[in-house]
Amino acid sequence: MKQILLGILTTSAFLSAGVDMESCKHCHGADWEKAALGSSKIVRDMTKTEVTEALLGYKNGTYGRSMKGVMYTNIKMYSDEELKNTGIGLDKKVIRGEFNPNIDVKSCKACHGADWEKAALGSSKIVADMTKDEISEALLGYKYGTYGGRMKGVMHTNVKMYSDEDLKNSGIGLDKKRLRANFNPNIDVKSCKSCHGADWEKAALGSSKIVADMTQQEVSDALIGYKYGTYGRSMKGVMHTNVKMYSDEDLKNSGIGK
Ligand code: HEC
Ligand code: HEC
Ligand code: HEC
Repeated sequence: MKQILLGILTTSAFLSAGVDMESCKHCHGADWEKAALGSSKIVRDMTKTEVTEALLGYKNGTYGRSMKGVMYTNIKMYSDEELKNTGIGLDKKVIRGEFNPNIDVKSCKACHGADWEKAALGSSKIVADMTKDEISEALLGYKYGTYGGRMKGVMHTNVKMYSDEDLKNSGIGLDKKRLRANFNPNIDVKSCKSCHGADWEKAALGSSKIVADMTQQEVSDALIGYKYGTYGRSMKGVMHTNVKMYSDEDLKNSGIGK
């Protein structure tokens, strides 16, 4: 395969009035990112068509695996029309990159994942987060022994047979880096990610604004406001708990935001 598939996520756009999505979240995650009860597919990776088929199938007993009874209970009360129009799922799977056909990209996937989303052998960086430039450097470096960590020998074996030209133009990687700010080290930013996403790209608990779209000033105002109860909406109590232990100074200078 020369190409990598990446879903464009549009789950939040057209949620149906019919199906009670809140009820799904404690199993499937606020952004459909979890394997429900350790067993379902990751719904955010499914297309709208696949989701519709699954939901109708659970209702009619024609789809599912060992835990399909659980899903039957969750959706049996909805009409076919409602299940067809939940708005959950990807519009389509789109092509992300064109890989160099001289490189046997399939052979990489066993370790790096089908979409470069895994830490290979529990050790590599997530290649999906790297830019094309960083990847060229890494691959050439593995070939010549000038890049890498403890397991660079593994990668040497995987790239030594390719020409420099091919390694420079593997086609793997992001065109440019996603924006990542310099966060205030006094704030435990890791603790925020389970709700707001690794890149602040999620509506936390299905409810917050997308923090990645906010300016630093807006974020400062929000955080100070959550601390003093002067900002926020129905779930501001959740955020109060997350920020009350920080000084005003730290909240003003979190480094989060555009
Ligand atoms: C109690 C936990 C739970 C709740 C609540 C729940 N689900 Fe599920 N869901 C599951 C499990 C478990 C599966 C896998 C079932 C199987 O074995 O086929 C699943 C599967 C699915 C699938 C298909 C994915 C696959 O594995 O093929 C979709 C789509 C889905 N659920 C949507 C929903 C929607 C929409 C709601 C809310 C109306 C919901 N779920 C509520 C546990 C849950
Ligand atoms: C046997 C498992 C395995 C296979 C197959 C494999 N890799 Fe790797 N890859 C690793 C490991 C382990 C690392 C981290 C090595 C280190 O310590 O520097 C790594 C690192 C990388 C990195 C740099 C990321 C970093 O941590 O700096 C890139 C880019 C990469 N691999 C691309 C590829 C490509 C392209 C292929 C296929 C041609 C491939 N890998 C095949 C295991 C594998
Ligand atoms: C348990 C989930 C959760 C965690 C953890 C969490 N947040 Fe939030 N966050 C929310 C929710 C829910 C809202 C929306 C609250 C409301 O109703 O005003 C929110 C709102 C925000 C907002 C304002 C956006 C808006 O909707 O107006 C910012 C900025 C923010 N959080 C930053 C953080 C930071 C920084 C951390 C870590 C220190 C963090 N959050 C941890 C759930 C969480």
